[in-house]
Amino acid sequence: MNVYTTKHDISDAIKVLKGQKKKLGFVATMGALHQGHMALVKTALNQNDVAVVSIFVNPTQFNNQEDLDKYPRTLDRDINLLKTASNNEIIVFAPTVYTIYNGNTTSEHFDFDGLEFEMEGKFREGHFNGVGTIVKRLLEIIQPDKAYFGEKDFQQLQIIKKLVEKHNIPTKIIGCPIHRETSGLAMSSRNERLKEVYKKEAPFIYKTLKTAKIKFGTKSANKVAEWVTKQFAKNKLLELEYFIISDEQTLKPVKRKSNKKSYRAFIAVYADDIRLIDNIALN
Ligand code: PAJ
Repeated sequence: MNVYTTKHDISDAIKVLKGQKKKLGFVATMGALHQGHMALVKTALNQNDVAVVSIFVNPTQFNNQEDLDKYPRTLDRDINLLKTASNNEIIVFAPTVYTIYNGNTTSEHFDFDGLEFEMEGKFREGHFNGVGTIVKRLLEIIQPDKAYFGEKDFQQLQIIKKLVEKHNIPTKIIGCPIHRETSGLAMSSRNERLKEVYKKEAPFIYKTLKTAKIKFGTKSANKVAEWVTKQFAKNKLLELEYFIISDEQTLKPVKRKSNKKSYRAFIAVYADDIRLIDNIALN
């Protein structure tokens, strides 16, 4: 498997592939790969000739230095896992911070038509400017036909669709379903850091989302949110940061239900010092 670390080398490799008229599918990751990432890679392989996987812990999207420092970095293991999907049809781009930021590790500023001010945008200041900066740069370097992003980070997915639309980037953005542990816990690189008691308790998040979905069939968004808040108040290990039911397109909180719109419930929870997010489609 070819692993490139400089812009120059990956650009040369991309040029060759484009010359051969190969279709490129791109999966951006921060590494510590798990089966959720692998599902995106497999979809990219199914729909294209080559999958390009980037592995880069992007400093500008972290608003907490400790979270950045503790983020798992497991490049060798990641490459071995990718090899289980394909050896010759995957190429890896694993740049250094300097390669991407040239000594100026700051974000560009983006206007995502308000999508960036909801949920994660409220609790992680500057996060989506960091995501926009890195994803735009990676798309410019790799120039993929299609790029795959998980619904696990649904707000990020909507923001990236907005990014390519506003900047006329000729890549089709494809959303992929959330991959879960058998316990229901959404797979995440952060799960590796969960202590055993918290790992046991964390499936409570998805269990609560599933019940919230049923309740939303007959109750208002406010009533459902009150119920969820109560469930977490009773839970000694998990601390609710937010639960919100929003319009899937605008990400604005639902005021009055309309059967013409699609809604999704979003949640962020602290398990010890680890922040977990999840969401569920409601209709
Ligand atoms: P990361 O958290 O590594 O996730 C990389 C991609 O995998 C994202 O599109 C994410 O939504 C998807 N993903 C993660 N867990 C998933 C799961 N359980 N099921 C389905 N998809 C899942 O998201 C990022 O990195 C970064 O913000 C990035 C886009 C790479 C920019 O730095």
